[in-house]
Amino acid sequence: MEGVQLVIAICEKNKLHKNIIVYNNGGFKMKTILFVNACMRERGESRTLELFDSFIESYMQKHSDVKLIEEKLYKMNLKPLSKFDIERRDSFISKSDYSDKMFNLAHNFYQADKIIIAAPYWDLSFPSILKVYVENICVNGITFCYTENGPKGLCKFTDLMYITTSGGFIAENDFGKDYINGIAKFLGNGNFMDFSAQGLDIFDIDEKNVMHKACSDIARLADGF
Ligand SMILES: Cc1cc2nc3c(=O)[nH]c(=O)nc-3n(C[C@H](O)[C@H](O)[C@H](O)COP(=O)(O)O)c2cc1C
Repeated sequence: MEGVQLVIAICEKNKLHKNIIVYNNGGFKMKTILFVNACMRERGESRTLELFDSFIESYMQKHSDVKLIEEKLYKMNLKPLSKFDIERRDSFISKSDYSDKMFNLAHNFYQADKIIIAAPYWDLSFPSILKVYVENICVNGITFCYTENGPKGLCKFTDLMYITTSGGFIAENDFGKDYINGIAKFLGNGNFMDFSAQGLDIFDIDEKNVMHKACSDIARLADGF
């Protein structure tokens, strides 16, 4: 799809916090899709990104009014929250002041109509940069709040898709998917979907065949997103 290739090309060019790409500005009903890219490897290398591309291409074929925002976590200089960061954040929150740039990722997550997270399967879950991202988006007053009945998610997303690929087989060790599902439930009440291609680094598995089938399977899932 030419349009998607264009989106991707623009994503590659843009730098930190400037990955805002209007795919097709069809008017005020335009939906925002947030793509959280937690893949260390680039396009052409990363099988996880290959799955994402198949999924979004298929989605874009059927939806013209979409704004796609790609956040490339490995390019964003994200760091685990320090004591200083937490104290600073708490001080802003106590004043209900959410204008600092430290809240940008949380605002984007809150506003997205749909969210896609792509991360390779690492050490039974995902790369630590994705956990750092989660630390940054879980902000009391933006993405969730506390009520008499406990915490309540405030995010608008109707659907969240988690995409991963693994070298071996995940089996019962699906901790990455389970954790992201938990975070999705904590921050909102949209549908959770997931997709994986597995066994890609096993020597007698035909990786190309597995990926070929996985790409067409995930493309079909875009209908329900
Ligand atoms: C640091 C690291 C940890 C990994 N841990 C696992 C693992 O626990 N289980 C597994 O099946 N594969 C593991 N793999 C293999 C990756 O899941 C697999 O190669 C994946 O397809 C990489 O995704 P990518 O092509 O998008 O980079 C690991 C790879 C790396 C680099």
